[in-house]
Amino acid sequence: EKGGWSSFMAKEVAEQPQAVANTILGRVHDGQVVIPELDGLDELFIGINRVIITACGTASYAALVGKYAIEQWARVATDVELAHEFRYRDPVIGDDTLVISISQSGETMDTLMAVKYARERGARTLSICNTQGATIPRESDAVVYTHAGPEVAVASTKAFSAQITALLLLGLHMGRVRQTLTDDSAVAELADLPDKIASVLEKENDHVAQLAGWMADTRSVLFLGRHVGYPIALEGALKLKEISYIHAEGFAAGELKHGPIALIEPGQPVFVIVPSPRHSALIHSKVVSNIQEIRARGARVIVIAEEGDAAVLPFADEVIHIPLAGPMFEPVLAVVPLQIFAMALATAKGLDVDQPRNLAKSVTVE
Ligand code: M6R
Repeated sequence: EKGGWSSFMAKEVAEQPQAVANTILGRVHDGQVVIPELDGLDELFIGINRVIITACGTASYAALVGKYAIEQWARVATDVELAHEFRYRDPVIGDDTLVISISQSGETMDTLMAVKYARERGARTLSICNTQGATIPRESDAVVYTHAGPEVAVASTKAFSAQITALLLLGLHMGRVRQTLTDDSAVAELADLPDKIASVLEKENDHVAQLAGWMADTRSVLFLGRHVGYPIALEGALKLKEISYIHAEGFAAGELKHGPIALIEPGQPVFVIVPSPRHSALIHSKVVSNIQEIRARGARVIVIAEEGDAAVLPFADEVIHIPLAGPMFEPVLAVVPLQIFAMALATAKGLDVDQPRNLAKSVTVE
């Protein structure tokens, strides 16, 4: 039931603090991440040389964030493969490879086939899934459930933030087991994440919705991000395509001068996800330069930046603030305004945000 909300999507966006809190629950003990479901797998985590994360759609963007986190904390080479590509080539996998699948439904045929294929090739398989007892977790050696609760809207929102949370937990769990985790500050930050999401929802909802209302006639929107902001640019674009039928593309900000900057003409709306200058002054300054480059060509720049980031102010037409967070935690905060934007724009166009045309919630055919 929608419980008073205008749509399931609106309800599910609002449920994200709880979805993330429930996914963390019972998995942090004495300042360390210990995922009980992974008990007995220490040898596996120590022995692997390679991780491949496989998924489709929004889950594949969560996977990209997971790549950064697992490499950073567990120091194991990690690649992301779309499930439907993975299975139709001859990937180098074996018993030193851990194949992680991510699926909200646990029934996506492409992802299921990729898991079966990986197992046949001798890889160990772990699934991150939101649906208890679904086919993909049943076909996997281990499962880490996200506890986002049922997701009804076709456009995935709370499952996505829960998937990223599960990947952060997994990265911290593996880092502890492999003894590669040198900094415990990330574990301490997990507990604050739900409140920070709630604060974005509270402070930015009306601002972003108003922005979308002004842009109902927009024909194209671009999204730029760097580091873990890159997958969020991809996710922001997918949300907009799916429910508002507006042409949207996400790019790695560093790619701009390799092609996409040719798209910039006066009035072109561009969302830019700016990483905190506290994490890397260099990465931050690169993104600020990108903003200047597109602004000089007339782009209408909507910046998502951490509170207090004054460097972006002179170049932004609009600034959406997110609370201060560690580098791996920013994606879960930065995606929220993009979800609200897509939803508000679709609503302004009079569209049904829960049931976009041509799409099914769960894609059970190849
Ligand atoms: O159930 P799954 O997580 O396996 O679904 C994967 C994709 O089909 C799904 O994320 C899709 O991209 C959503 N409609 C995105 O909003």
